[in-house]
Amino acid sequence: MSENASPDNAASIAGSTNVDTILGRMVVESGLATRDEVDACASIQEQMVESASHKSLADLLVDNGYVTESQMIRVRQEVDAQRGTQQIPGYKIVGPLGAGAMAKVYKARQVSLDRMVAIKVLPKKYMSDPQFIERFYAEGRAAAKLNHPNIVQAIDVGQAGEHHYFVMEYVEGHTVYDHLVNKGPYSESEALRIIIDMAAALQHAHSKGFMHRDVKPKNIMITKQGVSKLADMGLARQITDTAAAEAEAGKAYGTPYYIAPEQIRGEVDIDFRADIYGLGATFYHMVAGQVPFDGPNPSAVMHKHLKDTLTPPDHVNPDLSVGISEVIEVMMAKDRNERYDDTAALLEDLKAIERGEPPLQARRKFDLSKLAAIEESAETQMVEQPTPPTIMEHPVFWIAAGSIVINLLLLVVLLIVALN
Ligand SMILES: Nc1ncnc2c1ncn2[C@@H]1O[C@H](COP(=O)(O)OP(=O)(O)OP(=O)(O)O)[C@@H](O)[C@H]1O
Ligand SMILES: [Mg+2]
Repeated sequence: MSENASPDNAASIAGSTNVDTILGRMVVESGLATRDEVDACASIQEQMVESASHKSLADLLVDNGYVTESQMIRVRQEVDAQRGTQQIPGYKIVGPLGAGAMAKVYKARQVSLDRMVAIKVLPKKYMSDPQFIERFYAEGRAAAKLNHPNIVQAIDVGQAGEHHYFVMEYVEGHTVYDHLVNKGPYSESEALRIIIDMAAALQHAHSKGFMHRDVKPKNIMITKQGVSKLADMGLARQITDTAAAEAEAGKAYGTPYYIAPEQIRGEVDIDFRADIYGLGATFYHMVAGQVPFDGPNPSAVMHKHLKDTLTPPDHVNPDLSVGISEVIEVMMAKDRNERYDDTAALLEDLKAIERGEPPLQARRKFDLSKLAAIEESAETQMVEQPTPPTIMEHPVFWIAAGSIVINLLLLVVLLIVALN
């Protein structure tokens, strides 16, 4: 949103209440009507103030055909949310930054420190779900314990009126998702730099006992100075929090394009290796220019994560180095035991590639999993192969033995005849 459209400027709309001020500004900002059209309706409204047929700005905009009814429903929902956030003590809302599956994010000024922040607000429809609210607070608590240059810093979490909110560092820039949509895939070296920073961010989170659980291009923000930051610890929680894990058992959370197979299966003991898978899938998308598995619906995509063989990224983009493809394949191994053992091993390989050296940790993992596969197939062969028949089971044995016995009997008979 542009600074011109700040609430102070928008408040100049003639004769309007607080609701109408926000509504008028939002209609202009979202391009549904021009400033002149909104002002025209506002002055009609002012003339109607004393009359019995007084109408709201929203009704006038619809009556005059500037905004459709369904567009107005969406605008009203947004106004509701913004009015709620304007009641957060200590912060002044500047405007919307974006919306995700769970919440809306606003840009705001933290009055005490005179700095910009981003505020994530839980929509009203989730207010009745205690589990949802609990997870929202868990996000705040988890993120507040982390302090790293590559992690979006959590600042505050709380409740104002009927709204729950989470205040974090404002990142002026774009997400990796925005880049993929607007500019296409990253070069190998650009992607490598970002993934190294994200692996370092995850290493810090994992060392404090937290995992992210939702690593994806939308949750990697790049500042104007080019620093990458891991955002939205939205599904984060302490690894040791088994009660929460059990409550979630059987439910698959996360975005299907980047979700680890064990998360899809709803396993209880999800660990940091699920983040390594999510980062691997993100890395894949960044350098191959397409998601690792695609399908007509989320369940088709998830099925592929579970069952389909990954097309190596260097088969999709032949310009990629073999090393980078090996690293991504190990990050995205379906069996988490075949992934990197930790982010330290992953970082070692990423930095080796940056220096133009081979990824030795990935190769060790490949060798180990190949060895395991050979051992497994040898065991299967031993079990399945029919044991060769013993000599006594062979028909020739019995034919030979029979003829020897008959010959011996004949010899005995002949001897008896000869002796008599
Ligand atoms: N700290 C921040 N500073 C600036 N903008 C932010 C910040 N956090 C989030 N945003 C913006 O708000 C948008 C919505 O964020 P949110 O985390 O709610 O959802 P998401 O990550 O995009 O998607 P999903 O809900 O699927 O995880 C982001 O895409 C981003 O553009
Ligand atoms: Mg997010």
